Amino acid sequence: MRIAIISDIHGNWEAFEAVLRDVEAQGIGKILCLGDAVGYGADPELVVEEIRRREIPSILGNHELALLDPSLLSWFNPPTQQSLLITRRLISESTMEYIASLRTTMVWERALLVHGAPPDSVTTYLFELGKGELRRLLTELEQELCFVGHTHQLEVIGWDGKDVSFYPLGPGEHNLRAGWKYIVNVGSVGQPRDGDNRAKYVIWDPDVGTLEVRFVPYDIARAASKIIERGFPAFNAVRLW
Ligand SMILES: [Fe+2]
Repeated sequence: MRIAIISDIHGNWEAFEAVLRDVEAQGIGKILCLGDAVGYGADPELVVEEIRRREIPSILGNHELALLDPSLLSWFNPPTQQSLLITRRLISESTMEYIASLRTTMVWERALLVHGAPPDSVTTYLFELGKGELRRLLTELEQELCFVGHTHQLEVIGWDGKDVSFYPLGPGEHNLRAGWKYIVNVGSVGQPRDGDNRAKYVIWDPDVGTLEVRFVPYDIARAASKIIERGFPAFNAVRLW
């Protein structure tokens, strides 16, 4: 069964809706979410409500973590802190209870899911890890694959049992090699930072060992204007383009 893996929606309802439509058009019935459903974007409540309504299994992102523990806000730059404070005002107590129930990792089929980096880091960026550290993490990884988000950059790190190799993840299909282990960064639905303004997500087919990267256009103008209307920092809207 093919599985859509999404991450970093960041309260961008227009991007999320477009991705959900694309997932349905691909005939895929299962979606997993790697966290950061909120933060930056205008519709955190709507996004989380839809995740809950569709029963999309999800894990904790660093933005959810900061909502649960405001003492962690100092990790973020001032505009992001401001975004999180506005986000907190836009979400209900029921959504906060849901966020408090999220776990930091999830295992699905033969894959580990974590927001930042294996084995269980919500906050570590993949680019902070050197080759030696990645080799160790992949050696110790119990599953064949680890899906992450957090950097908002599509990427695959492969391990053949000896060395690690880095591959960019462009749109289209990519084959996974039998006997290898991988860390796969699925990019961002709602806050792309890779020079292409479309929403990104990955379809994993565990039966044949493929990844398909989807780039999905959406109504950026509408998402951007709502960000401004709701008083978020203008940069959150500008960087969507
Ligand atoms: Fe994020």
